[in-house]
Formats: sequence, C-alpha cells, structure tokens
Amino acid sequence: MKLFKEIEIKDMKLKNRIVMPPMCMYSAVDGFANDFHVIHYATRAAGQIGLITVEATAVLPNGGITKDDLGIWSDDHIKPLSWIVNRVHYFGSKIGIQLSHAGRKARDANPKIAPSPIPYGDLTSPTEMSINQIKEVVEAFKAGAKRAYQAGFDYLEIHAAHGYLINEFLSPLSNFRSDSYGGSFEGRMQLLKEVIIAVRNEWHIEKPLGIRISASEYHQDGLKPKDLVEILNKITPGVVDVINVSSGGVINVKPDSYPGYQLGFSKKIKAETPFFVMGGGLVNDARMASDALEDDEADLIYFGRLALRDPYFPLKFSQRLGAEIEWPKQYVRAK
Ligand SMILES: Cc1cc2nc3c(=O)[nH]c(=O)nc-3n(C[C@H](O)[C@H](O)[C@H](O)COP(=O)(O)O)c2cc1C
Repeated sequence: MKLFKEIEIKDMKLKNRIVMPPMCMYSAVDGFANDFHVIHYATRAAGQIGLITVEATAVLPNGGITKDDLGIWSDDHIKPLSWIVNRVHYFGSKIGIQLSHAGRKARDANPKIAPSPIPYGDLTSPTEMSINQIKEVVEAFKAGAKRAYQAGFDYLEIHAAHGYLINEFLSPLSNFRSDSYGGSFEGRMQLLKEVIIAVRNEWHIEKPLGIRISASEYHQDGLKPKDLVEILNKITPGVVDVINVSSGGVINVKPDSYPGYQLGFSKKIKAETPFFVMGGGLVNDARMASDALEDDEADLIYFGRLALRDPYFPLKFSQRLGAEIEWPKQYVRAK
C-alpha cells in the first residue's frame, strides 16, 4: 500500500506519502517563529505525517500576506526556525518550508508591489515593479534559501500559486507588462526562472526543491492545466524535483470544491511532466488517499484542514487501512 510506503526524493527519505501542506497560521511577530509554531508543527510530526511543510514564509518584509506571517528576511529568523526543524526531526518526520512573496495580495505591505498596477478584489492598488524591485525579490528568495538551508530544512518549496507574486507574473490576468517580464509565455515565466536559479545557488542540489502551482485559475482567460504543463516542461528536472498542485487565487472566485477536487489536475501534471507530484484538496478519507496513489493521481497526498483538525489522523488512517506503522513509543498503549 503506497500511502504508508517510504519514498526517496533526492536525499530526503520519507516514511510515508502523507504531507502537511503549507498553511499560514498568522501567529508570528516581525516574522519570528515562536512556541506556537514549534508545538504546532511538532504535534503533526508526532502524528506521523511524513513531510511537514512550514507555512508561506515571507522573503521580504513587504512579502507577507499579513504582518503576522513568518519571515526569513534576516539571519535572526534562522534560529527559531531551526527549533521547529529539530522538534519535527525528533519524531522522524521531514520538514520543508515554503518561501513566498504575496505581491498585490500583501495586505499590510508598503510598498505593495506587483507586475502591473491592478488591485486584487477590493484591496488597494499595488505599484508596478521596477526592474530593480524584481531583482531585489530574486535576491531575497536566494537569501531565504540560504537561511532555510542553515536552519536545517529538508525540502524547500517556492510559492508560485494562489495569486501571489510569482503567480501574478505567470498569469495573463494580472501581468500586463510590455518588458521582458511580461507578454509571451516566456516573458511571464521569467521571474519564476530567475527565482529557481537563484534559489538553487543556495539550496544544495542533493536537496529536493519544489514549486507550488495553481493548475487552474477558474477563468476563461486564465491559466489552465495544459498551460501549467507547458510551463513546467520548460523547467529542468533535477533542478526542480517536486510540483505541489493546487489551484485558484489569482482572481476572487471560489471553485466548486468537493472531496478530491484537484486530483484531476495532479494526475495530468504527473502524467505529462517528469516531476514528483503532490496532490490533494479536501482529501479527508484514508481510502480516497490510498486509491489516488494507486491510480497514479499523485506521488504524495497533502492534507491541509484535516491536519489542523486532527494532528493524529495518520495513526487512524493506518488502522483503517490495516497498515502496520510505528507509533511514537510513548503512545503505543493507545493503539
Ligand atoms: C488556514 C490555511 C492557511 C493556508 N495557507 C497556505 C499557505 O501558506 N501556502 C499555501 O500554498 N497554501 C495555503 N493554504 C492552502 C492549503 O495548503 C491547502 O492547499 C488547502 O487547504 C486545500 O487542502 P485541504 O482541502 O486538504 O485543506 C492554506 C489553507 C488553510 C486552510
């Protein structure tokens, strides 16, 4: 049964295929992780989630979705992040971090920057980024990757989904630039490409690197799964290793969501690109997760809100599926 089978991605060996995706907790002050974050992530590791991803972490002070997001724009942020890493490792899980810039969706940012001066919903309008500001963001992702490495993370994920800065550049709904960062597919991809190269300069090649994408923008003129396949096939496998498939967020529409609603997207990305693929979206059921892996809809399954509701769900899943897994020895009498 794949769900509880080990998987190796570069030098990261996971004990199962269960992933906690990045989820903002809006509980940091000045970007610093604190006791809450350590307890929150370590509890999910005790519950035997194989790979835990620390929430969207801002690479610049103006890159958080709110001022309460985690940050990684200074060396001082490294130490508290390393506390999370060490506690998660204690339970034998691996830990990643999602590096992010929220672009025009950075509510508390000043200046609020984006590829084009078009507001998201009723948020205030961003200013169009100068070339210097683009270079500054690329450098910030690079510095963030160096700090993530120093903090001891196993996996790094570039946030290119949900209508945040990199996604804003990719999307024809939010990028109206006429310079080399806009227009054609290649132009809209330019920021992502530069960020990948910059991050890889610091994030050692033997460590897995992922990108989170929105496979559909749920708009007739927005990006569609086939466009993401085209974009991803321009990226060298081995430079990037993992694609974490999500959807939406560039414009303010709520998709029709139902259990497994994004697994069709991850299946397509898995079939048509050379990367390891994470899929999920309202997967709350052990059998559905197991079947999705057996049916090649993904290589790993993420569980977001379920992991918030119930940090111990993998223990229950293993019992439901009749899989023998290791419990934290302190909890074995509860088995
Ligand atoms: C409270 C909360 C915060 C989230 N923050 C992030 C985030 O920081 N980065 C990200 O890529 N997705 C974020 N997401 C989306 C989740 O990673 C996940 O894709 C989504 O919840 C769908 O999975 P689920 O149905 O299993 O919850 C967030 C979701 C929730 C519920």
